[in-house]
Amino acid sequence: MNTLVEKLKSTVRDTAATDIRAAFAADPARFSRYSLTLGDFLFDYSKCAVNEAVLAGLEALAKEAGVEAKRDAMFSGAVINITEERAVLHTALRNRANTPVLVAGRDVMPDVNAVLDAMGAFSDDIRSGRLTGATGRKITDVVNIGIGGSDLGPVMATLALAPYHDGPRLHFVSNIDGAHIADTLKLVEAETTLFIVASKTFTTIETMTNAETARKFVVGALGEAAVGHHFCAVSTALDKVAAFGIDEARVFGFWDWVGGRYSIWSAIGLPLMIAIGKEDFADFLAGGHAIDTHFREAPVRENIPMLLGLLGFYHRNVLGYPSRAILPYDQRLSRFPAYLQQLDMESNGKSVTMDSKPVEGQTGPVVWGEPGTNGQHAFYQLIHQGTTIIPAEFMIAANGHEKELRHQHELLISNCLAQSEALMKGRTLTEAKAQLLSKGMDPAKADRIAPHRVFPGNRPSVTMVYDSLTPFALGRLIALYEHRVFVEGALFDINSFDQWGVELGKELATGLLPVVEGKESAAGHDSSTAGLVAALLKAAR
Ligand code: F6P
Repeated sequence: MNTLVEKLKSTVRDTAATDIRAAFAADPARFSRYSLTLGDFLFDYSKCAVNEAVLAGLEALAKEAGVEAKRDAMFSGAVINITEERAVLHTALRNRANTPVLVAGRDVMPDVNAVLDAMGAFSDDIRSGRLTGATGRKITDVVNIGIGGSDLGPVMATLALAPYHDGPRLHFVSNIDGAHIADTLKLVEAETTLFIVASKTFTTIETMTNAETARKFVVGALGEAAVGHHFCAVSTALDKVAAFGIDEARVFGFWDWVGGRYSIWSAIGLPLMIAIGKEDFADFLAGGHAIDTHFREAPVRENIPMLLGLLGFYHRNVLGYPSRAILPYDQRLSRFPAYLQQLDMESNGKSVTMDSKPVEGQTGPVVWGEPGTNGQHAFYQLIHQGTTIIPAEFMIAANGHEKELRHQHELLISNCLAQSEALMKGRTLTEAKAQLLSKGMDPAKADRIAPHRVFPGNRPSVTMVYDSLTPFALGRLIALYEHRVFVEGALFDINSFDQWGVELGKELATGLLPVVEGKESAAGHDSSTAGLVAALLKAAR
């Protein structure tokens, strides 16, 4: 692997691959050469520092890392999450072909379909008012209590699909900070609210504590007997749910082969289904399935998730870029960067190989972003003229949902395309100076000012275009990124499906609670921690 990476570094130097601007000037067919379509989805990577030699090198990397074989192992239900000894089969949840998917020799599709049917019936009943609160009033508000993968997916997708939202209002509570649930409870009435307690493990302290607070809210307003009418749960830990007192008929299960950050397709998607209805939810699943089929069947050079993953590896390990920006020109995708932070950074923020050795080279980059055009007025300055190169990933719909505001959509498109063009082309010193002189500036001043107005250019970006942000398009986009994370993980040779890094914080917080409560001494903790505890206890009212 290392030899191939080193070889690619020489290829980049020898072929001046990073001079993207020159490559465009030399090749009028560059866009068609380095873009792909899948239905209405267009993936343009022509503004990256690639050429035939670089792509051949990346293909060789994929081959040496066995990416295609690893992909096939994932889809076949092999135990690829080796530290937790689990299969990784979120793809089965959106397997609209309904072909058998075997885990330890047993087809999981009947169970998957049964839960989907149960979710469909329940969400129909809530949406239609057949299922009511304890006093017979229709449910107008649904509060999802969950965190991480049990929150970010439903939050992001509900916002993304706002034009399809015709069910009850949705609210999301995740943070252990009491402010989150307190502010939410002010917006709802107990009589007309359904709480979904969403937790894969049903042990997560944030979710369990917020669920207890919600339960007190319901009991305080309507009495203990009302709890059954106002709660339902989503979990893999059915025994723990029963102990919380939620009726079995209101529990929607999933399985240990669904990772938290890959669980939007499972019963964790229940709030989304209640919002948009089971038919639109099925379209969302179909979008994910379309990418699965493409990922499994297309050869590497025609395979969008494969290329996106290879480009990610290239940026990180060959060109040395430490982060990537996710820049949706789609206000309703405003939580997509946060969603991808968990998907990508919790999956690929690792340093140990599948053979339990330290990784050589770099693993996942820092993932961050905000929707355009807002980001343009905040951090784009650094992307254009800073000393760090940040590959950008733009996404834009050809059509907004607001037909009457077409002009605003045209402005959105022109801004999106202008940014990627500016990043690639930049502005040379000569161009900057000529522009100043043409405005009548005196030459001495133009000499002084021009360097500040130089843009280095050659800054890489990919652009993704889709017809409009439908449930299908959203499902496709999420699945595309899931598989890109998979491809990068396969190239890094790490396990993308565990998250031990998160567990340490959980353990330490549990240990510190009695100290913060003043029940135990801080002795044994470092002096900073002890000092901070003392200051906080002194100030506590
Ligand atoms: O943040 C760590 C994590 O384990 C995530 O992977 C997961 O999505 C989240 O906590 C919530 O876990 P659970 O669904 O079990 O409450």
